Amino acid sequence: MMKTQQLIDLEKEYLAPNYKPLDVVLERGEGAWVYDVEGNKYLDFLSAYSALNQGYVHPRVLKTFVKQAKKCTLTSRAFRNDQLPHFAKELCELTGYEMMLPMNSGAEAVETALKSARLWGEKVKGVPKDRSHIIACRHNFHGRTIAIISFSTDEEYREGFGPFSPGFTVIPYDNANALERAITPDTVAFIVEPIQGEAGIVIPKAGYLKKVREICDRRNVLFIADEIQSGLGRTGRLFASDWEGVRADLVCLGKALSAGFYPVSAVVGSKAILSLYKPGQHGSTFGGNPLACAVAREALAVIREEKLVERSAKLGDYMAEKLAELKSPLVKEIRGRGLWFGIELKPEAGGARKYCEALMAEGLLCKETHIHTIRLAPPLVIEKKDINWALKKIFKVLRPKQ
Ligand SMILES: Cc1ncc(COP(=O)(O)O)c(C=O)c1O
Repeated sequence: MMKTQQLIDLEKEYLAPNYKPLDVVLERGEGAWVYDVEGNKYLDFLSAYSALNQGYVHPRVLKTFVKQAKKCTLTSRAFRNDQLPHFAKELCELTGYEMMLPMNSGAEAVETALKSARLWGEKVKGVPKDRSHIIACRHNFHGRTIAIISFSTDEEYREGFGPFSPGFTVIPYDNANALERAITPDTVAFIVEPIQGEAGIVIPKAGYLKKVREICDRRNVLFIADEIQSGLGRTGRLFASDWEGVRADLVCLGKALSAGFYPVSAVVGSKAILSLYKPGQHGSTFGGNPLACAVAREALAVIREEKLVERSAKLGDYMAEKLAELKSPLVKEIRGRGLWFGIELKPEAGGARKYCEALMAEGLLCKETHIHTIRLAPPLVIEKKDINWALKKIFKVLRPKQ
């Protein structure tokens, strides 16, 4: 068996270096726990950026995955399959939306929402051809395609990839007045993360999303919520937007939609928007394939039946209470909703990376987001005793020796 360093050396030789992972090589996982190739055991506090809300290799999803893989994995949308209609119905019923459009990655779901908004703009709102305008927020993260990085404000994501797509404006996050001012007669949509994940679990002020909803209604602009990381239970509600009782016109979903088994994403929305598509206008060879749909159906059933949303709320409250006791001179602020926390360190702490490495050495896997924030996002199936174990490690690493 190849051990850690040999595998890292192979990566260095053959893999484009577009990531800087921690030097742990994982081999297998179960629930919230993972094992590396040396047999070391770790508690996962990242959940593949919330794609593993149901934990590693959930037995129910595994069973469905294997059963469906033996029957039929891909039909393409040239033909129909027996899983997609059920997935569409079950996702709409769970989320309370009328229609869905299936894709694979999160970025594709975002692209789908942007295209849907432009289509609606031209066909319904009456925006002249090629004039559609979409507003996004500073420090957003919606994916990595050229259209999406066209409205990123992170130079790291953009440097070297221009020219960019026109038709986007960026405004400050958590600023409803800026939205009001940025809307033009050609504005078709505002896209926003209800909580900014990659930016460091940045939670807007109470009332922001409600105000966004009111402005979008009054100015005839679609409200697109990117719930790819925040949705499906992570924040202790099905959607992070539920914290304000707000419903977006289009919601982008991905990650936990497939319990980490397979890339599955989707956009849900009203018929008034999603029924505007004509055959051929949008699609994907793998989008809506029977394996993806069977897996996603089971992943949603696990969220529902194991009450993962309630679990996230309850264990999240517990963790928030405990984290409040972390009096560390290194910590600037701790933010959180449900089982999703950002521990922002002070600049003098010298960056979050070295603390993530120290936590790894203690058996806890977390990842820095941007420079100064440690993100905590355990699988929602995690046990309370494991949370207590993790808290001990976090306290040990972030509380300097007295
Ligand atoms: C809010 C949000 N949108 C979109 C994406 C992109 O998803 P994917 O990496 O599956 O393309 C992510 C991924 O982290 C995300 O957090």
